[in-house]
Amino acid sequence: MDNFIFENPTKIIFGKDMENSVGEEVRNYSKKILLHYGGGSIKKTGLYDRVVASLKAAEIEYIELPGVKPNPRLSLVREGIKICRENNIDFILAVGGGSVIDSAKAIAMGTVYDGDVWDFYTGKAVPEAALPIGTILTIPAAGSESSTGSVITNEDGWYKRSVDSTVIYPRFSILNPELAFTLPKYQVACGAADILAHLMERYFTNTKSVELIDRLIESTMKTIIKYVPIVLDDSTNYEAWAQVMWAGTVAHNNLFSTGRVGDWASHSIEHEISGIYDVAHGAGLAVVFPAWMKYVYKHDINRFVQFAVRVWNVEQDFFDPEKTALQGIEKLEEFFKTIGLPIRLEGLGITDDRLEEMADKGTDSDRRTLGNFVKLGKQDVYNILKLAQ
Ligand code: NZQ
Ligand code: ZN
Repeated sequence: MDNFIFENPTKIIFGKDMENSVGEEVRNYSKKILLHYGGGSIKKTGLYDRVVASLKAAEIEYIELPGVKPNPRLSLVREGIKICRENNIDFILAVGGGSVIDSAKAIAMGTVYDGDVWDFYTGKAVPEAALPIGTILTIPAAGSESSTGSVITNEDGWYKRSVDSTVIYPRFSILNPELAFTLPKYQVACGAADILAHLMERYFTNTKSVELIDRLIESTMKTIIKYVPIVLDDSTNYEAWAQVMWAGTVAHNNLFSTGRVGDWASHSIEHEISGIYDVAHGAGLAVVFPAWMKYVYKHDINRFVQFAVRVWNVEQDFFDPEKTALQGIEKLEEFFKTIGLPIRLEGLGITDDRLEEMADKGTDSDRRTLGNFVKLGKQDVYNILKLAQ
């Protein structure tokens, strides 16, 4: 196990009706905030009215910035930075999913930075500060409610890039599983794929002696595999949603990164797909991850055997580990199919051939490799995308 320092400062406020205390929480930080949200689901569900009532009761002034799109855009981030600066706003409340939260994080960094916020996403600059943010989560998926990540799409060239920094850990996140009751089934499935992907990115490691976190990851994967079909059948099952929502947070709050090096190539490859084609991140992952697995499993067959046996209950063939490893990958594909996700690019509606372009963009024209479990160059990324076709 590697040395590590683990500190996750996000206060989690979990359970029924907890969003009604948001005004009180915000008051610990600010009296004037930016209220950031997406395309309107929070108005349809009535959440917006409750949030606003709570802010008013706590005498918090708010300026609204709605309109965050899935795969959040840089142009809206720039608009948010302008609003925060012009109005001396010192706190951002994000109400929504990963897209809204990531957009809020970008605005939070950009407002206190003299240069261009995109510098953080290209690696040209490292964020040193950000406005504090809080979140009310409406979809278990990206894990951004308690993560160091923010992923933004620059419409100029359709580059989808991420930044990773502890300055953007939310100060608090309110998780009420009831808020997920209104999710369309497809979004539920995309969220499940993303949660599994965050677990698998960490699971496939070259670090040795990582049994404790292996076991925690496996049990979190099994929780998703058990409870996501339940919420898909019964969308108001609170107890099942509670399992899924908390799993989504722990999958990505960095506890499961402790003592080991994760992979993350599949995420980078997926970002090229959703950057160009604007598909849901989770759906893209359901296509990329199995293809990545088929490409790299020989690098450490035993780890893939462990995944098959412990997570998917595949019966181990001691004479043919490759067979067992491949059965685990098949089970993952079957799961994605049963919850209604595509497992090939064609199923995402991608029938043109821009694989070479994506491999080139993702690897900076072969100047950088992707992943750690196996380091992938441009040709490898192309081969994986070909397997996903
Ligand atoms: O915009 P509204 O109207 O709110 O609708 C949203 C959106 O259309 C809808 N929705 C959310 N909650 C709902 C709801 N509809 C009905 N009822 C509810 N309760 O769902 C749609 C998708 O929302 P989005 O925020 O895009 O989903 P998700 O949470 O999956 O976020 C995806 C984004 O997060 C990034 C992804 O790349 C993608 O851009 N990621 C962020 C990470 C991070 N910051 O740590 C890590 C992830 O790996 C991921 O890359
Ligand atoms: Zn993800």
